[in-house]
Amino acid sequence: MAKRNLYWRLFRGLLANPRYFYFVWRMDTHAKTAARLARDDLPKNGTFYPVKLDLRIVYACNLRCKMCAQWGDTGTYFAYGTTKLQQKLDLKVIESVIRELAPKGLRYVDMEGGETFLYPEIIELFRMLKSYGLFVKPVTNGTLLKKYAQDIIASGIDAINVSVDGDREMHNVVRQMDWAYDRTMEGLLALVEARARAGRYKPLIKISFTMTRHNKASALQKLCEELAGKGLIDVLVVKSNPIWVPEEKGQAYNALVEKHFGVHGISSWQGFLEDYRDFGAEAQDIAETLRAIKAKDYDFFVDTVPTVPAHDLPKLYTDYEWNLGRTHCPIAYVEPTIDSDGNVYDTPFLDIWFGERFQEFRRMLASQGGLLPICNRCCQLTEA
Ligand SMILES: C[S@@+](CC[C@H](N)C(=O)[O-])C[C@H]1O[C@@H](n2cnc3c(N)ncnc32)[C@H](O)[C@@H]1O
Ligand code: SF4
Repeated sequence: MAKRNLYWRLFRGLLANPRYFYFVWRMDTHAKTAARLARDDLPKNGTFYPVKLDLRIVYACNLRCKMCAQWGDTGTYFAYGTTKLQQKLDLKVIESVIRELAPKGLRYVDMEGGETFLYPEIIELFRMLKSYGLFVKPVTNGTLLKKYAQDIIASGIDAINVSVDGDREMHNVVRQMDWAYDRTMEGLLALVEARARAGRYKPLIKISFTMTRHNKASALQKLCEELAGKGLIDVLVVKSNPIWVPEEKGQAYNALVEKHFGVHGISSWQGFLEDYRDFGAEAQDIAETLRAIKAKDYDFFVDTVPTVPAHDLPKLYTDYEWNLGRTHCPIAYVEPTIDSDGNVYDTPFLDIWFGERFQEFRRMLASQGGLLPICNRCCQLTEA
């Protein structure tokens, strides 16, 4: 019965928003661009435009998750000054970028931070993006959802990813706050109830579970049992692709950036300085747990990322050199990220997009055969 309700909900969601599902399923501009790059057929300046935009709208966060490159154990934001940390993307400036890009084929906007719902005008931002007919998906730790539940549903966003990393006990250990799990679950409940009250089938409500060395496969299984039958989510996405970089790859990247841009000591990758080369046994355990939970009849779908067979998980975790056969990253041609400090806004977005420095970045990428030394475990590559 619970499963039947899930199918019905998703079927209605599909009918309510077919263009969204079609777009996410195909992502064809990304795939076509990667294939062109692999043929050494580099798109000419002025012929490619962003189809997807990633906005890091705030730096601030109310959690300190162990694995987070921003606010975690090796987080780089701790070195930022207060003035920078208080910066956020200006709503008017975001709209000016959207006005520029929407007529050029922009379709989708992803948002994250820091914590997305610490952005003071988050609902206005959703409404503005929807008014341009864009697909909208925030990623959030979920702790502030309860307050916004009704407005989120009314804004008409298409999907929402809520990060949960285990059952109550493990989630709170990973997220380093003993109230994190309860608040997030209250938020999910408020959201799903508001959606039902409004008679809507949007947004698609997903949990995003990142399987790192800080949680355990058993915590995934326990979470599934805790969620079962509650009707809180539509999809549980298990991401077995922690982002990490070996030190030597980071240094190799810095040498390249110095050569191409004369910039020394880039530190952005240092938040990802972890090592999974000894993670084979745990990865095996994860593979077995994934098989077990996929065989269960939960009232939510279990999706796994990356799309590799479970028996490849030990290789995926431990062998940084393995790029999953994804040899050419299309992101620099189709999916820019704008960071919270908004430095880019003295200039029209497309002047930067086609500007000399961005072109030099694309040349640097091509000179390395399509991937840079720090790219192999980037989620934008592994989730492609
Ligand atoms: C950086 S957070 C920002 C949005 C929000 N604060 C949240 O936690 O969902 C975006 C996503 O990255 C995930 N994440 C954090 N550290 C990661 C890592 N080292 N590798 C892969 N994903 C990570 C989080 O769990 C979350 O799903
Ligand atoms: S909630 Fe998100 S941004 Fe904040 S520390 Fe955790 S992963 Fe990082």
